[in-house]
Amino acid sequence: MKPMTRRELFSEEKIAERVKEIGGQISRDYRDKPILLVGILKGVFVFMADLARNISCPCHVDFARISSYGNNMTSSGDLEIIMDISLPVEGRDVILVDDIVDTGLTLHNYSEYLKSRNPNSLKIAALIDKTSRREKFVELDYCGFEVEDGFIVGYGLDCSEEFRNLQGLYILED
Ligand code: IMP
Ligand code: MG
Repeated sequence: MKPMTRRELFSEEKIAERVKEIGGQISRDYRDKPILLVGILKGVFVFMADLARNISCPCHVDFARISSYGNNMTSSGDLEIIMDISLPVEGRDVILVDDIVDTGLTLHNYSEYLKSRNPNSLKIAALIDKTSRREKFVELDYCGFEVEDGFIVGYGLDCSEEFRNLQGLYILED
């Protein structure tokens, strides 16, 4: 098997700049309203930490863990809530945050589920919109970067649990 190489897509500086912009946009949109950020683990952990610190409104933070991928690189299409959030959603202004949208199944299904718990409002933020394999429409209110295809790692995103700690975003090439 040939070793995988990686090519940088977005540098640490570029990501920081973009996350700051999104945080500013959210802060302006919600003014001083308290918001609930719901992140989807594990890939979101780095983005969520940086995004939350770039939002000036009062923020509560919670996480859910959803399985849509095993340890391979294709989607199974199944969705299982492994760990749900523990904070109440009813009446809250919620922003659902994920690292990357691929088929859209994760965000589509989990956002429908959150809606059924009667938030006051629900918006969606994703660091990366990967467009070419979309199966379910997901309206992204906030989006960091758009890429067409490829397997992306770094800044929280993994391939079989590797590369989450890289500062930049990379595309894997063989
Ligand atoms: P979706 O349900 O197909 O939209 O997949 C979303 C989830 O799959 C993301 O939250 C990621 O955890 C994972 N994923 C999809 N594409 C990539 C990628 O290129 N790199 C790392 N993880 C990915
Ligand atoms: Mg994920």
